[in-house]
Amino acid sequence: ELQAFIFDLDGVITDTAEYHFLAWKQLGEELGIKIDREFNERLKGVSRLESLNRILALNNRETNFSLEEKEFLATKKNEHYKELIQQVTPNDLLPGIHSLLANIKSNHYKIGLASASKNAPAVIEKLQIGNFFDTIVDAATVKRSKPDPEVFLKAAEQMNVTAEACIGIEDAEAGIESIKAAGMFAVAVGTNEALRKKADMTVERTNQLKLNELIKSFQMYN
Ligand code: G6P
Ligand code: MG
Repeated sequence: ELQAFIFDLDGVITDTAEYHFLAWKQLGEELGIKIDREFNERLKGVSRLESLNRILALNNRETNFSLEEKEFLATKKNEHYKELIQQVTPNDLLPGIHSLLANIKSNHYKIGLASASKNAPAVIEKLQIGNFFDTIVDAATVKRSKPDPEVFLKAAEQMNVTAEACIGIEDAEAGIESIKAAGMFAVAVGTNEALRKKADMTVERTNQLKLNELIKSFQMYN
């Protein structure tokens, strides 16, 4: 029986995926590495340090830096990112998300956040939606990043529900893999074919996420 919804943050609740992209692009420029939006798809849901490794690998430079230097670069990206998210307001919620959260809440399902981002609590506060969440997993306590199921399993555990009673919602391929590895029903938001193929249900845009349809698909699947 369905008991909870677990959301990814970046790209599902708000478009901070764009800010992550802009921040990496700026760091890339400082390093002489060009990053485009297509490549950025491969950074979605991927941790800060792993993202940096993938960017350096573009120019075969992942072995040119010590871990200390990489941490310095990753911190620099995060400074760019923190500056960008200062502009986030409740108006930056993606279409349909506020009413979806309200609808889920008034139907007494639990709501969790499973973000790989250490900035997630700050973004949730800027969006003023903290009151909807029964749990927000602290990304700093998650050892293995998506596609590992840890972050989704932790969210379920913190809400006292089993994985089979959860619907996970994601915009990243690594995220959908994480939800499936956790044994949950996976909903993909986006048009990327590889992403859609791995999910149990797909919508192109957030305003197509409707509670009754999510419940219906979940029940048909189970
Ligand atoms: C999310 C985003 C990634 C980001 C990761 C870590 O999963 O989709 O693009 O790299 O979080 O975010 P952080 O804010 O901790 O650098
Ligand atoms: Mg995402």
